[in-house]
Amino acid sequence: MRKVKGVIVLQRENWASRLGFMLAAMGSAVGLGNIWRFSYVAGENGGGAFLIIYLLSVLIIGVPLLLTEVSIGRKAQSDVVGSYQKLAPKKPWYMVGFLGIGGAFLILGFYSVVAGWAFYYLWNYLTGQLFVEPEGGYGAAFGQFTSTTYEPLFWHGLFMVITMVIVLIGIKKGIELANKIFMPILAILLLVLAGYSVTLDGAMEGLAFLFKPDWSVLSDPFVYIAALGQAFFSLSLGVGTMMTYGSYLSKEHKLPGATVGIGLMDTLFAVISGIVIFPAVFAFGIEPASGPPLVFITLPSIFEQMPFGSIVAILFFLALCLAAVSSSISLLEVPVAYFMRVCSWSRRVATIVTGSVMFVLGVFVSLGFGIWSGVTPIGDRNILDSMDYIASNIFLPIGGLVMAIFIGWYFTKEEAFEATDLTTSPLRNVWLVLVRYIAPILIAIIFLNALDII
Ligand code: PHE
Repeated sequence: MRKVKGVIVLQRENWASRLGFMLAAMGSAVGLGNIWRFSYVAGENGGGAFLIIYLLSVLIIGVPLLLTEVSIGRKAQSDVVGSYQKLAPKKPWYMVGFLGIGGAFLILGFYSVVAGWAFYYLWNYLTGQLFVEPEGGYGAAFGQFTSTTYEPLFWHGLFMVITMVIVLIGIKKGIELANKIFMPILAILLLVLAGYSVTLDGAMEGLAFLFKPDWSVLSDPFVYIAALGQAFFSLSLGVGTMMTYGSYLSKEHKLPGATVGIGLMDTLFAVISGIVIFPAVFAFGIEPASGPPLVFITLPSIFEQMPFGSIVAILFFLALCLAAVSSSISLLEVPVAYFMRVCSWSRRVATIVTGSVMFVLGVFVSLGFGIWSGVTPIGDRNILDSMDYIASNIFLPIGGLVMAIFIGWYFTKEEAFEATDLTTSPLRNVWLVLVRYIAPILIAIIFLNALDII
């Protein structure tokens, strides 16, 4: 709020600088998705060939859509529903904004549970309890911990409270400052770990798994939807996070360079996490397709056998926790921005209400590993996997598809170039062809292909 000639004017918040925006957007992109999700999805889908499809998805669909999403937000200066309403009044485009808000609830619902596990592991390393393999092994210890009712809920709740406090403080002093501190620490930690991992005996096998494609997996349509979903999830695309963050940018900040930088950085973090995890997985003879628990079961076994493993473990889980917080705040900001505008709630009320609903969703996810482990809403997927599947492989790509069609077809060519700061760029037509034709067609084909494997 600010006063102009004695009149109170409600002013939207803004980033303090372009760097602040970039760090926050990178903080959003780099998260559990790069470390926890990337490693197990790559592990389950064959490694190298998956990596190539993933990289192509990022390059051809992800980065052009990232620019699209941020520029819609910056042009409209509103949340994910309001932006469409403002730019296309009385047209149904805004409906996709609700899909984004729904996606944010679904994702943070399970994200906070997994982040809670990371906090639990960090705490147990700090107090020395995981230094030595627990009786029955790390797998059994993980299973035992996640299947109890209250303990995981405590860590999940703690994580939600931290997320809510940062969002509550606001854009500049909360989200922007947290990212300025977290992102450089995270980058340094991961680089140190990658350097360490490649020196392990047998590291070559892990690197070969990640970088030497086994083309035979490409006949499986699931690999494509998994790679596309991973690209969207990892770039925080399609939920409206980047649109909301873009809405706190003013017009003088140029977008194309910033979005390419964000996409590059996010991909680099994923590949570096792969370089941390796969050499270690192979060095210690662990199955790369261990699924979601990969990070939580296999890595502790690895850390236990490494020299200085406990220090490495503390650094690793610290990095994972920081990465998770900087992403979860961006997920929470999506509905918070919406409810602040629509219900005229204060930031505090909007944060507490939406954060609490997400906490409750997370309770279901957490119980899905314990007393509700028999509940499999989609196929044989448990509650977490089902929510992840709907959000990442359906909601996010639809959100992205609509954004591409919106800017590529609803806007005139000139409007689209103006919104994205591409008017004088030699690459403007490349971007336009990508968002008008290539991205929508590819997303549609991948969807149709995957229809019968849900
Ligand atoms: N990109 C985040 C990660 O990789 C997760 C996320 C998805 C954040 C969608 C915001 C929106 O962990």
